[in-house]
Amino acid sequence: MSELERWNSRYASGDMPWDTGKPSSELLRVLDEEQIPPCRAIDLGCGTGTNAVCLAERGFDVTGVDFSPLAIDRCRQRALALNPEVGRRVRFLVADLFAPPEQIGGPYPFFFDRGCYHVLRRTDVQGYLKTLERITGANAVGLVLAGNAREPMEPGPPVVTEAEIRAELGQLFDVVRLREFRFDPLKGEEWQPLAWSCLLRRRVRP
Ligand SMILES: C[S@@+](CC[C@H](N)C(=O)[O-])C[C@H]1O[C@@H](n2cnc3c(N)ncnc32)[C@H](O)[C@@H]1O
Repeated sequence: MSELERWNSRYASGDMPWDTGKPSSELLRVLDEEQIPPCRAIDLGCGTGTNAVCLAERGFDVTGVDFSPLAIDRCRQRALALNPEVGRRVRFLVADLFAPPEQIGGPYPFFFDRGCYHVLRRTDVQGYLKTLERITGANAVGLVLAGNAREPMEPGPPVVTEAEIRAELGQLFDVVRLREFRFDPLKGEEWQPLAWSCLLRRRVRP
């Protein structure tokens, strides 16, 4: 089974414990505390679109990208229920982040990634960075939420160490803030996996 089939079948069977149905508390905290103003934004590996829609509701012009067509169908359903003014600020795209089409657009002054970097890095971290290099410009800000290798759990989110984050994302970005937090409780459970919240700013020169 290909990666695409694997993800799509998880959406088909409902095996997506990360999908809480609510915007990420950590995203909301960072938007407020860092006072990130509404701008063009992209949600990488957006899943069923909860966070992309939340950004649109806060005034961002958002593109949500995921390579699972089923996930993007759910995003589009979600967007249909929005007030039309908010709905106009969000669009969804089925695309592989390792080979993004022209329509991905950019540059994006803000990007959000909850649980996509920690998956994609296992296949090709340079491919992930190449896409980020293409869709962001100097001083772009990004928030990456990833599983934390200090508490690996099986089953659980893929995990990454602080050193790996700095060595990988640090190739393109300054790490403005790196803090530990816990993901919101997984669907149907009380467990909150330990995670990293990584606020990034694109360097003017790599
Ligand atoms: C752990 S889920 C997180 C989903 C969403 N960000 C959330 O927080 O609910 C990872 C997502 O990355 C997507 N994904 C995995 N590989 C991808 C790729 N190469 N290109 C685009 N999306 C990908 C999957 O389909 C899945 O929706």
